[in-house]
Amino acid sequence: MKVPTLRPRSNTPAEIGTAFVPIAEEARNEAPRAGIDPDRSLSWLRRAMPIMKAHKGIFLTSLVLSFVGLIFQVQIPNLLNHAITNSIQAHTVPLSYYVWWIVGLGVASGITGYIARLFLFETANDIEYDLRNIIYEHLTKMSFSFYDRVQSGQLISRANSDIRSVQMYMTFAPLILVQCSMAVIAFGFMLSINVPLAFIAMATMPFVYWTGVRMRNSMFPVSWIIQARLADVATIVDENVNGVRVVKSFAAEQQQLRALSGAAERVQWGYIKDADLRARFTPLVQNLPQVGLALVLVFGGYMVIHGSLGIGAILAFNSYLLMLQAPFMMLGMLIMMGQRAAASAGRIYEILDEESTITDGPDAVDLTECTGDVRFRHVDFAYSAEAEQLVLADFDLHVPPGQTVAIVGRTGAGKSTVARLLTRFYDVRHGSVEIDGHDVRGLTSASLRANVGVVLDEPFLFSVSVRDNIAYGRPTATDEEVEAAAAAAGAHEFISNLADGYDTIVGERGYTLSGGQRQRIAIARTLLVNPPIMILDDATSAIDVQVEQTIHVGLKVQMQGRTTLIIAHRLSTISLADRVILLDQHKVVADGTHAELLATTPLYAEVLAQAAEFEASGDSADGADSETTGNQPNGSELGAMLNAVRTGGPR
Ligand SMILES: Nc1ncnc2c1ncn2[C@@H]1O[C@H](COP(=O)(O)OP(=O)(O)OP(=O)(O)O)[C@@H](O)[C@H]1O
Ligand SMILES: [Mg+2]
Repeated sequence: MKVPTLRPRSNTPAEIGTAFVPIAEEARNEAPRAGIDPDRSLSWLRRAMPIMKAHKGIFLTSLVLSFVGLIFQVQIPNLLNHAITNSIQAHTVPLSYYVWWIVGLGVASGITGYIARLFLFETANDIEYDLRNIIYEHLTKMSFSFYDRVQSGQLISRANSDIRSVQMYMTFAPLILVQCSMAVIAFGFMLSINVPLAFIAMATMPFVYWTGVRMRNSMFPVSWIIQARLADVATIVDENVNGVRVVKSFAAEQQQLRALSGAAERVQWGYIKDADLRARFTPLVQNLPQVGLALVLVFGGYMVIHGSLGIGAILAFNSYLLMLQAPFMMLGMLIMMGQRAAASAGRIYEILDEESTITDGPDAVDLTECTGDVRFRHVDFAYSAEAEQLVLADFDLHVPPGQTVAIVGRTGAGKSTVARLLTRFYDVRHGSVEIDGHDVRGLTSASLRANVGVVLDEPFLFSVSVRDNIAYGRPTATDEEVEAAAAAAGAHEFISNLADGYDTIVGERGYTLSGGQRQRIAIARTLLVNPPIMILDDATSAIDVQVEQTIHVGLKVQMQGRTTLIIAHRLSTISLADRVILLDQHKVVADGTHAELLATTPLYAEVLAQAAEFEASGDSADGADSETTGNQPNGSELGAMLNAVRTGGPR
C-alpha cells in the first residue's frame, strides 16, 4: 500500500512567507443580532431589552394584532345587551342584525388571534435562538481558568431550561399585559352601562392584585432554589455519563445512584413547596372574580327588580366578568413566570457577566511569518491570582528557531504549564512569553494558536470520523494530506485496519480507540496544521515503546525546520531532542544535552529513573497499546533502562 508522505517543514522563505491562515477556515456562524446590556445596575428585563428590540417588528405586529382581536371580542357582550334590550324585549331592531355582527366579530377576532399567536411563537423562538447563541459565543471566548472552575452540568442547564423560562416570560408577559388591558376597555363598557354596578363588579380586583403580590413574594425564593437544584442534578448526570468508566470500575453505581437520588429529592422538595404555594394561591386568584359575579347578581338583580336596569345589562356584566377571569388568571401565571424568569436570567447573566481574562487587545496583531523563536523571560505564574505558591518562578528559557527541546521534570513540576503559557491559555503574572520577539499578549489568539500546535496529554477526539478528527484544524485538507499526516504519526496502519478505515466514526471522546491510538490521531491532527512551533505534551505516553520507535522515525522528519517542545518522561522520547532542560523548584535547573545533564545533574538521572520505574509498574498509561507484544518492559528491560540512565543513555 502506497502512503503519501507529509512534506517536512522547512524554514525556506516560501514556507515562512505564507501569511497567517486562521485554523478554522470555515465560515463563521451568524452572530446573534443583539447582546444583553452590560450595565449591571439595570433590572434583568431592562438588560434583556436589546434582544427584544432586535425583533421588535414582528413582536409589535403580534401584540397589535392580539389587541385588535380583543377589541373585536370585547364588543360582543355589549351587543348582547343591546340585542336583548332592542330585539328581544322592545322588538325595535331585527335580531338577525345582532347575530350577524356577533358572528362577524367572532370570526375576525379568531383570524387576528391566529396570526398574532403565529408571530408570537416566531418571536419566542427567535429570542431563544439569540439567547443560546449569545451564551455559546460568550463561552467560546472564556479562558481556561473559567473552565477550570465551572461545572459543565451548570452550563448545560443554563443554556437550556434557564433560557426557556426567560424566553417564555419575555414573549408571553407583554401578551398577557395586552390581554389585561382589555380589562380597562371592558370596565369602560361597564361604566357606560351602569356606573355603580361597574364599581361593584370590579370590587374584588384589588384583592386579586394583593393576592398576586403575596404569591410573588413567597414563590420567588422557591423558583430560584428549583433552578439551582435542577442544575445540580444535571451536573451529577453529566459526570456520571462522562465518568461512567470510573464509576463502573469501582462498582460505585450504588453510591452514584444515592448521590443522584439525593439531588433529585432536593429538586422534588422544591417542586412540592412550589405546588403547595401554587395550590394555596391559584384558587384564590381564580375565584375572586366569581365573588364579583355574585355581587353583580345581588346588586344588579335588585336594580332590575326595581326597574332601574335592563335585564340585558346583567347578562353583559356577566360576560364581561367571565371575560376578565382569563386575563386575571393569566396575571397570576405571569407573576409566577416572572419569578422563574428573574431567577433564570440571574443565572444566565452570572455567566455572561464573567469577563474572559484572556482577550485580544485592541492593538493585537496577527503573528505572521513565524520563524519559531520562543522565549520565556523571567516568568512568574500561578493558576489563581490569589495563590501565593507560584507554579513557575523566574522561569527563563530561550529556544531558537528549529530546535527540539525536551522538558523533563517531576510530576507536577510545571511542564504542561509551560506549554499552556506558550499558547496563552493563561497569562503570566510577571515577565513575558515571546514568539519571534512579540509578547504573546500582543498577538491575536487565533494567529498565535495557528502557529503553535499542541498535542495535549489527554487527547480529546470528537464523535466524528477518524478523517474528520485528523482534519479538525484544516477541514479543507485532501485525503492524501490526511493520510500523510496519519502516516507521519504512525497511525495510518491501524486506521486502515479499522472496520471503515478513515470513515470509522469514533465513539464519544474517542473511547472506542485505545489510549495510544487516540494519541496518534491527536499527533496527526496537529501535524496536518503544520505549525512552525509544536508542543508534544506527553503525547506518546500511552504508546508502547516499540510502536513509539516507528513514530519517532516520522516525527524526526517532522521536527526539522520546526521549533518543538517535547514534554516527556521516557528516555526514548527524550532522545529525539537536541537539548534537554530540567524543570524543578519552579524554574530551569539544568540545560544541556542529555549526556551533559546525566553527567552533571544527579536529579536528572533520578527523575528519569523514577519515570522508568513508574512506567514499569504499569501505572503510567491507562490504555497503553499492545499492538506489538511485550509492551510492559520486564524486569531485565527495566534494569537495562535504569542502567542506560546511569551510564549515559542512548546518545
Ligand atoms: N488548571 C489548574 N488549576 C490550578 N492548578 C493547576 C492547574 N493545572 C495544574 N495545576 C497545578 O500546577 C502545578 C504544575 O502542573 P503541571 O500540569 O504543569 O505539571 P506537569 O509538570 O505537567 O506534571 P505531569 O508530569 O504530571 O503532567 C501542579 O502543582 C498542579 O497541581
Ligand atoms: Mg503535564
